[in-house]
Amino acid sequence: MYTEKVMDHFQHPRNVGEIENASGVGTVGNAKCGDIMRIYLDIDDNQIIRDVKFKTFGCGAAVATSSMATELVKGKSIQEAMEVTNKAVMEALDGLPPVKVHCSLLAEEAIHAALWDYAEKHGIKIEGLEKPKSDIHEGEEEEEEEY
Ligand code: FES
Repeated sequence: MYTEKVMDHFQHPRNVGEIENASGVGTVGNAKCGDIMRIYLDIDDNQIIRDVKFKTFGCGAAVATSSMATELVKGKSIQEAMEVTNKAVMEALDGLPPVKVHCSLLAEEAIHAALWDYAEKHGIKIEGLEKPKSDIHEGEEEEEEEY
């Protein structure tokens, strides 16, 4: 049911680990399955993502999508990284089974959370970036809370 690329990234995930003194760190959970994703970004003065690492307590699809997402944002500008959606990640992996699509949101949200952290630390605004959720299901049923 998984594509070869998904299996490859699950069995040999790229960019696993932590970055000490990261420019931005983002953590996002999925309360429904209890999985958690953390992404570390190292961003240089030209706003290029020099390095990226991730850690997860997550299912195989979360591991594979995060691995691919880190590959897609590495070496890219912040604006380019903003375009790496979970859809783009799934396409790069030749698809995911429908029940696993939500798992791919963890990586996208965690990257956004790490970018948000970076922007806050540097007092800048990243175009198109909204305050990240701490859980991918946050605000699904009810209205967004005041921020
Ligand atoms: Fe939880 Fe996949 S089942 S992220």
